[in-house]
Amino acid sequence: MKGKKILLATVAVGALMLSGCAGGGAGGDGGEGDGGGGLIGVAMPTRSSERWIQDGDAVKAALEEQGYTVDLQYAEDDIPTQVSQIENMITKGAEALIVASIDGTTLTEVLDTAADSDIPVIAYDRLLRDTDSVSYYASFDNFLVGQQQAWSVLNGLGLTELDGTPIEGAPAGPFNIELFAGSLDDNNAFFFFNGAMDVLQPLIDDGTLVVKSGQTEIEQVATLRWEGEAAQSRMEDIVTANYSDGSTVNAILSPYDGISRGIISALTDAGYSVGEDWPIISGQDAEIDSVKAINSGEQYATIFKDTRELADVAVDMAVALLNDEEPETNNTTDYDNGVKVVPSFLLDPVIVVKDNINEVLVDSGYWTEEEVQG
Ligand code: BGC
Repeated sequence: MKGKKILLATVAVGALMLSGCAGGGAGGDGGEGDGGGGLIGVAMPTRSSERWIQDGDAVKAALEEQGYTVDLQYAEDDIPTQVSQIENMITKGAEALIVASIDGTTLTEVLDTAADSDIPVIAYDRLLRDTDSVSYYASFDNFLVGQQQAWSVLNGLGLTELDGTPIEGAPAGPFNIELFAGSLDDNNAFFFFNGAMDVLQPLIDDGTLVVKSGQTEIEQVATLRWEGEAAQSRMEDIVTANYSDGSTVNAILSPYDGISRGIISALTDAGYSVGEDWPIISGQDAEIDSVKAINSGEQYATIFKDTRELADVAVDMAVALLNDEEPETNNTTDYDNGVKVVPSFLLDPVIVVKDNINEVLVDSGYWTEEEVQG
């Protein structure tokens, strides 16, 4: 029943657009429920990182284009706020929820309330853990993201190609490397770190890479809430404790651009300079300040995950479920949330270095030429 109504609404919106009705497209200023679709709740973790703003905007636009009304909320990394935002969405009659959690384990109760009312829940980019009340998962291949971060570091050191293929006649090292991971309450942090260590551990074992701080366990290198300031102060401590003897750190595995920016500040303060003893630093998300940092040589690489594509996948999942159809998945084995394996659709991440900024980020319309040069 419900499904049919929405299908008809979608057809109606399509017909409107086809008939050339001015202003009928995305972002049209129609009132609530204009397209006939119901309300969909979209919960995002924080506005403090650019990527989530782009995610939220893209999800909202894609849903509105299909005639839905959207309640988009940001919780500024405060867990109780996110719980009450989702409660509100349920109270307001949301027909589906798309949730990018702050802490993937803390939403069990509110998600059970959603499940009791037959509201489908899509985990957006971050897996919702320890709950049966999640229907599907839309994300990227997060293990591959970690491998790519490691390959980008090795590429910067001249050891491998960007796809991890060893370079003949590469320098023998040893190279000093320090490791950073994301927030332990985010399932992705483990996938990124495990992917990276899958690549780096053999080189640590054979002495090509040396972690002078000795900190190689995820619990030692994690960064709560992915905060740049926390990474900055850990980097300062590492430099003081391990590199005051005249040695230099040659590479840093960083899982996220905001963390990389904290690391860059710490290194600048410690007297490192670009073009001299500056280390190779990885990243993730292609945030604009970090793309500029890649242009200026402060950061070596980032991993681009197209938030527009992710938004489309999540929206397609929600709409399929509301139409009593089965969403498309391409992974039904890897994302066990502690209660069940959540059927997933994983997109492919792309490594960005100085040479392919234009090709990957500008040509695709993600950033403009001016923004990138800025
Ligand atoms: C996302 C990354 C992001 C990080 C910090 C992770 O869950 O997958 O893209 O860098 O959160 O926001």
